[in-house]
Order: sequence, then C-alpha cells, then structure tokens
Amino acid sequence: MLGTMRRLWQTVRPIRFRLYLGLLSALTASIVALMIPQVLEFIVNRLETDATAATIWTGGAVVLALGIVEATLIWLRRTFAVAPSTMVEKQIRVSFYEKVQNMPVSFHDGWGSGQLLSRMMSDINQIRRWIAFGMIMAVTSSVTIIVGMVLLVRSSAILALIFFVAAVPVSIIAYRFNREFSVLSRRSQDQNGDLATTIEQSVQGIRVLKAFGRGPTALEGFTEQAEELRQTEVRKATSIARFDMFMFMLPELALGVALLVGLNLTANDQITTGQLASYFATATLVVGPVRMLGMLFGQAVNATTALDRHYEVMDDANSITSPESPVEVSPAASRGAVSLSGVHFRYEDAPDHVPDVLDGVDLEIRPGETMALVGVTGSGKSTMLQLLPRLYEVTGGSITIDGVDVRDMDLIALRTLTAVAFEDATLFSDSVRDNVLLGADQSLPAEDAEELLHLALRTADATYAYDLPEGVDTRIGEEGMSLSGGQRQRLALARAIAARPAVLLLDDPLSALDTKTEETVTARLREVLAGTTTLIVAHRTSTVALADRVALLEDGRVVAVGTHPELMRTSARYRWVIANQEEEKRRDQDIETLTGELELRAIQEEGR
Ligand SMILES: Nc1ncnc2c1ncn2[C@@H]1O[C@H](COP(=O)(O)OP(=O)(O)OP(=O)(O)O)[C@@H](O)[C@H]1O
Ligand SMILES: [Mg+2]
Repeated sequence: MLGTMRRLWQTVRPIRFRLYLGLLSALTASIVALMIPQVLEFIVNRLETDATAATIWTGGAVVLALGIVEATLIWLRRTFAVAPSTMVEKQIRVSFYEKVQNMPVSFHDGWGSGQLLSRMMSDINQIRRWIAFGMIMAVTSSVTIIVGMVLLVRSSAILALIFFVAAVPVSIIAYRFNREFSVLSRRSQDQNGDLATTIEQSVQGIRVLKAFGRGPTALEGFTEQAEELRQTEVRKATSIARFDMFMFMLPELALGVALLVGLNLTANDQITTGQLASYFATATLVVGPVRMLGMLFGQAVNATTALDRHYEVMDDANSITSPESPVEVSPAASRGAVSLSGVHFRYEDAPDHVPDVLDGVDLEIRPGETMALVGVTGSGKSTMLQLLPRLYEVTGGSITIDGVDVRDMDLIALRTLTAVAFEDATLFSDSVRDNVLLGADQSLPAEDAEELLHLALRTADATYAYDLPEGVDTRIGEEGMSLSGGQRQRLALARAIAARPAVLLLDDPLSALDTKTEETVTARLREVLAGTTTLIVAHRTSTVALADRVALLEDGRVVAVGTHPELMRTSARYRWVIANQEEEKRRDQDIETLTGELELRAIQEEGR
C-alpha cells in the first residue's frame, strides 16, 4: 500500500502546493474547532465566580467567531483541493488512454475491453476522490486525534486514559479490517471489469444471440456474474458494518465510563466543572475523526486497489515501439518494394506443440506490383498482412520496404507508408467522409480532400454514399446509420485507398460483393493503383486472375509464386485450393443467407 501511494505522489507532485494549502486549511480548521472547548472551559470556570451578562456575551461571541472561521477554512480546503485533483484525474486518464492506444494489438488480445473500460472510468474516479478528499482528511484526522488527545490529558489525565484504552482495540480492529477489505475490494473491482466485458460483448453480438435464441442463456450467465459481484458487495458491506459498529460502540463506551468517573472526580473537587465540560466537548470532537479514520481506511484501500489495477496496465511493457534513430522514409519517395525473408511468427498465447503460424516465409513483391495471396482458411494470410505495418512483430526473419527493415522505421512513418483494409470492416461512429479520410493526408486543402474522397469512393464502388440521407456527411457506425456488410466493406476499402500508401494491404476486401461488382472494383483498383504495390488476399478466381502474380501460402510458407495461368498449369495444390475456395465461397454465401433469415425471423418474432 505504501509503495503504491508513494508512486501516486509522483503524479500528484505538480499540484502539491495546492494540496498543501488545502491541508493547511483543513488543519487550521480542526485546530480552531479544538479551541472551542478550551474557550468553553474558560467560560464555565469564569461563570462560577463572575456570572455577568458581559462574560456570557463575550464567550458566546468568541465561540461564534471561531465557528465562522472554521466554516470558511473548510470551504477553502475544497477550493484548494478539488480543481487541481480533477486535473490530475484527467492527466491519469489521458495517459491511460495513450498507453492503451500505443500498446500493440497483442496487448488487446489479452485484455478484456470491459476490464480496460472499468479501469479507465471507475478506478480513476476512486483515485481522484482519494487525492482530493481522502489524503487531506487522513492527515487532518490524525492530527486532530493527536492534538485532541493532548488536550484531553490536559483536562484530566485519568479521563484521557479511559479514552486511550478504548483506542487500542480500535486500532487492532482497523488493521484486521484493512486486510480483509483489500481482498474484497480487489475482487469487487475485478468482477466489475468482467461484468463490463460481458455487457460489451453481448451488446456487440446481440444479433447472433437473438438469432440463435441464446438470449436466455446469455442472461443466465450474466445473472450468475452479477450475483457473484453482489455477494462480494454484500461481504464488503458486512465487513464495513462490523467495523463501523466497533467504531461507534467503543468510543461511546469510553465516553460513558468517562462520564461516571468524571462526575465523581468533579464531586470530589479533583477537577473543575470547566475541565469536565471541555473534556466532553473535546472528546466529541475527537470521536468524529476516529470514526472518519475508519471510513478513510476503506477509501485508502479502494484507492490502492484502483491504483494497483491502473499500474498493472501502465506497467505492461510495449514491445512494438519506434527505434531510437529511425531511418527516414516517405510515401512520396517510396517505390514500395516489399521483401519478406525467413519470416517466422507465432501468437503469444499459442500452445507449445503448435508450429509457428508463419514458418519461414520468403516473398518478394516488386514495386508497383499487385500480388494476390492465396491459401486455405487459417493458413496465416491475415497474420502475414498485419506484420507489415508492425501490428504484430515478426518472431524471426525480417520484412523490408525499399530495403529498409520495418523495425528501423519510425512507427507512424511506417504506418503512413502502408494502409490496410481489414477482413472485418470496422467503421467509427462518424460521417462517411471522416471514416474514409481517416488515414488521408490531413493537411490537404478541402477541395483536394473532396476530390480524393470521390476518387476513393468511386474506386471502391462506394458512390452509394452520395445517396445516403445526408450524403457523405451521414453519420454511420455504431451510433449512426446501419450499412450492409458489402457497403461497409467497400468503405473500408475506400479508406485504405484514400490513405494513398506506398504499400496497400487488402485482406479479402471484396468477399461480401457479388461477382459482378467484384469484377468492376478489381478493374478500377488496377487502374487507380497502377503504381501502388498491393498485396491482396483473394479467394475468387476473378480477383486472382487480375493480379500480376499470385503467392500460395501453405503450412506457414509461400510454396508457389507465379502468374495465375502459370500456377494453374504447374501446381496441383494451387488448382485444388482455388477450386476449393470457389466451393467454400458458395457455401459461405448460403450460410450468410441462412443467418440473415434467422435474424429476420427473430426480429419479426420480437415485434409480435
Ligand atoms: N489474435 C490471435 N491470437 C492467437 N491466434 C490467432 C490470432 N489470430 C489468428 N490466430 C491463429 O493464427 C492462424 C492463422 O490465422 P489467420 O487469421 O492469419 O488466417 P487466414 O489465412 O487469414 O484465414 P482466413 O482465410 O480464414 O481469413 C489460425 O490458426 C488462427 O487460429
Ligand atoms: Mg484472414
């Protein structure tokens, strides 16, 4: 806990002066509050000898003034601490986002999105509350208790002793509570993250769940998870309740005993009535912070857990970074000669007995050439494509563009050099224009950008976008208009084209199109991308036939390279794969139609 808090202090350092001021205000406020019983003692003692209206009024005025000063100081504490702590919160959140953005794709393979979401939102919120309130109050309460104790001793040593005795079990209980609560707190926060992951996934996969009638099963699973979280929360609450009970009971008990003893002492004239009055007034002031300390303990534990979860992500090392002194490259100057030599790759979580997905790939793609990549499903085509922009890192061998190893280039430069249209067309909740121009040169004048947009849309046969309700300004994606699979795919393709890369990577970009549209698009691609090196994963003969050359990927290697007619002639394996894929494609389409019908039926049923 201490280590974690010390680390937090590094982040908080820039606002430390504001925090010190907040702390100072809080401390002064509690000292002022503790002065009130002292004044009270003075007045009570004075009244025994000099009970004039002047004494009463002066005493009252002093107490009132002290009260006003205390209130002002409490207000100051908030003013000093709250604004800067929200700044720290924002900074922590932004650096978390940056971290998550920069981490390689393999990082996201291993982290549930719900976990990241809950760490980003609720954990960081808890950290802020600790900085703005907890940290200051913990110091203030401790000081109030210590000063209060001294004052209690001053009032009466015997009575103070009674209070101290009660403090011993309180600290033992607090220690045990801390241990129990931190385990529960971590469990609850982790379960929260898992729950968020489940929600995210079922919202994303809602259609599949509905279409296959798995809604109730999903609900069951969710209910189970929610129940687990509930139980953890109940255990947390029970733990706090037990702790709170002692926190209330023990001080009250001590005060009860002190009252009996104190009255006796006063009766025997061992202490004055004033001292007795100030003892109780002080004790009441100290009891508050003692209880508060309990609550703060819980908050500190929650904040530590949140910080640990935060640092867990922040400490995950980024394995894919720009080199110290990158080799200069620019898309304009690049010829786009790609070479893979002895490339090996395996996924981090792959079991030992599985061979590398890519097991020594050698492939040369000439500048400006369009090369089709063919292979049975699961042969590693998508994996290979993702190695070029270093979305994943080769585990052996090397990839060069224009003779420069991709690992020697600046990451951003490399990713400007290349553009990918992924298998699953991901669109953002944004206008068509912004989706397509996502990777385009952002400094283009509006007119040129518009031209580029048009060119990209036309090439990808996505001019349907102009006919959407608000044309290319129509919002699409999750929160916007729904597009068909083929429509989405063509936008993703347009996006890759608009980036005007030196090396274009297309992962089966035409799979959702009918043969006729596919042929049109392929022909246009050839025309527009005449000088652009293109590696295109393809299934259909029509696409493959239009490529300059074809590479066949099998068992983690490129086993044949040549023009389509050449390979058809020389490679039996190639003939088999091509024939098979035509077949597969038809089956895929049948399944798609079937799923579509099922979805439709489910939706209709729901409507009834
Ligand atoms: N993120 C991942 N983590 C672990 N293994 C993966 C991951 N992605 C893919 N794989 C595995 O790597 C192998 C190659 O997958 P890849 O997606 O590259 O195949 P593909 O040739 O693109 O197939 P398809 O034609 O179906 O798109 C598969 O066995 C797959 O299970
Ligand atoms: Mg693939």
